Amino acid sequence: MTTSVEPTILIIFGSMGDLAWRKLAPALYNLLLNQQLPGHFAVIGMDMKDGNTQAFRQRLRDGANAFCECGQVEEKNWSGLAANLTYLPGDFADPATYAVLRKQLDAREKEWNMPANHVFYLATPPVIVETIVNRIGEASLASDRQHVRIVVEKPFGHDLASAIALNTLLTAVFEERQIYRIDHYMGKETVQNILAFRFANALFEPVWNQRYIDHVQITVAEQVGVEHRGAYYEHAGALRDMTQNHLMQILALIAMEPMVSFDADEIRNKKVDVLRAIRPISPDQVGELAVRGQYGEGQNFPAYRSEPGVAADSSAETFAAVKLSVDNWRWQGVPFYLRTGKRLKMKASEVTIQFQPVPHQSFPKAAALAWQPNRLTIQIQPQEAIRLSLQAKQPGSSLHLSPVDMHFSYQEAFKTKSPEAYETLLADVMMADATLFMRADQVEASWSVLDPVLKVWAGLKPADFPNYPSGTWGPEAADGLITKDGRSWLEPVLRQSLEDNQL
Ligand code: BG6
Repeated sequence: MTTSVEPTILIIFGSMGDLAWRKLAPALYNLLLNQQLPGHFAVIGMDMKDGNTQAFRQRLRDGANAFCECGQVEEKNWSGLAANLTYLPGDFADPATYAVLRKQLDAREKEWNMPANHVFYLATPPVIVETIVNRIGEASLASDRQHVRIVVEKPFGHDLASAIALNTLLTAVFEERQIYRIDHYMGKETVQNILAFRFANALFEPVWNQRYIDHVQITVAEQVGVEHRGAYYEHAGALRDMTQNHLMQILALIAMEPMVSFDADEIRNKKVDVLRAIRPISPDQVGELAVRGQYGEGQNFPAYRSEPGVAADSSAETFAAVKLSVDNWRWQGVPFYLRTGKRLKMKASEVTIQFQPVPHQSFPKAAALAWQPNRLTIQIQPQEAIRLSLQAKQPGSSLHLSPVDMHFSYQEAFKTKSPEAYETLLADVMMADATLFMRADQVEASWSVLDPVLKVWAGLKPADFPNYPSGTWGPEAADGLITKDGRSWLEPVLRQSLEDNQL
């Protein structure tokens, strides 16, 4: 444990749930291994379930064992953390629970003989958030603005109106600077690196605009289906679950203006400017600018409608694609195509910046048969890389151009595994660094863009669902969204075949 981070007590609401088990436990354990936990650190696991400290410790240990990239948990390391984990069962609606919590917080600080930061982590279903926030407020547990923080998981509302309501609720009890809204994509190294790539290199900024860029594609494709989350997903769908947060955050990083300093609010201001510049979609444009899909049966996979917790006639979309325009000087006329879906052909999240063709093609036609404009691909996962595709002369006496890749791989360059997103985000909360977290205005700006699409889709039951078989690239209409502009989706799998051609 490190002493440079202030003493912290992490209070996890929903501590016996899936998130704490899958994500928080391995993140905490790895932070311990990397000596990134504060010298004085404790976790109070709160849950409505009966239980005891021993069972809570075991649950987190199981989670760390199952999901930590670091391998099996070792007793000699774990014991240091386990001693600081305590369980507090109680009804989240009952003020008495918060009175007990206060006593435990006071007792810990007395034992340490120093004040500690209190980080409330809401790892609970959204329905209970309002109750918890109100009880924290009523118990005056949020009033120390300097030392108290709250971490909120998505979904941040269900639409614009509910997001505003949630922000109003949170800011009635906490100040905005105390609120850490998590979008775990922002914790991914490859997503954070977008800023470094764009603004720590002089090379790309001069061409990062409508004069040189033809269009941008953002793909977040999953191979998995809805898994055990049917009940949640039925009310969410791909646009709410992925586009509104993860894809819009990536778009904001790609499109934002350079920040003046590396300050949380400066960066978030620049990001929100982009979200606000996105051209509103009117209801009569939804058919033209957005496509939804739902997976049907595929080889060895059930259709979405046969998944547990899903209605037999479900209208929830498991695929969403949208075409957005950013109305500012930099991006005028450059479309941004976003797509995401479950049960697609492969797991691949990437951003493609497609540059324009050279202004004059001086090579003979026969030489340039395989010619294609430059393309920059930021591979977010599972491959972590950046590729710049160029034209090169094929060796030989005849003149033939073919595309080749310049390739930067994280693994090769840094010889180390990237930390898990939750590790980075938990460490940042403890250090009060809000750079990677969503501010209320970002969340609302993002909902404003997609709200009209959601409204039109809600009012119009899709007649063609399911409209793509599992294991494909989504519905045909998604191709139409881009081919009608004379472009096409770039398939990650095709680009891998260029791997052998690296410069
Ligand atoms: C979550 C969504 O936010 O992101 C899930 O709720 C999705 O539906 C997940 O599967 C994808 O995250 P990752 O990190 O695996 O790309």
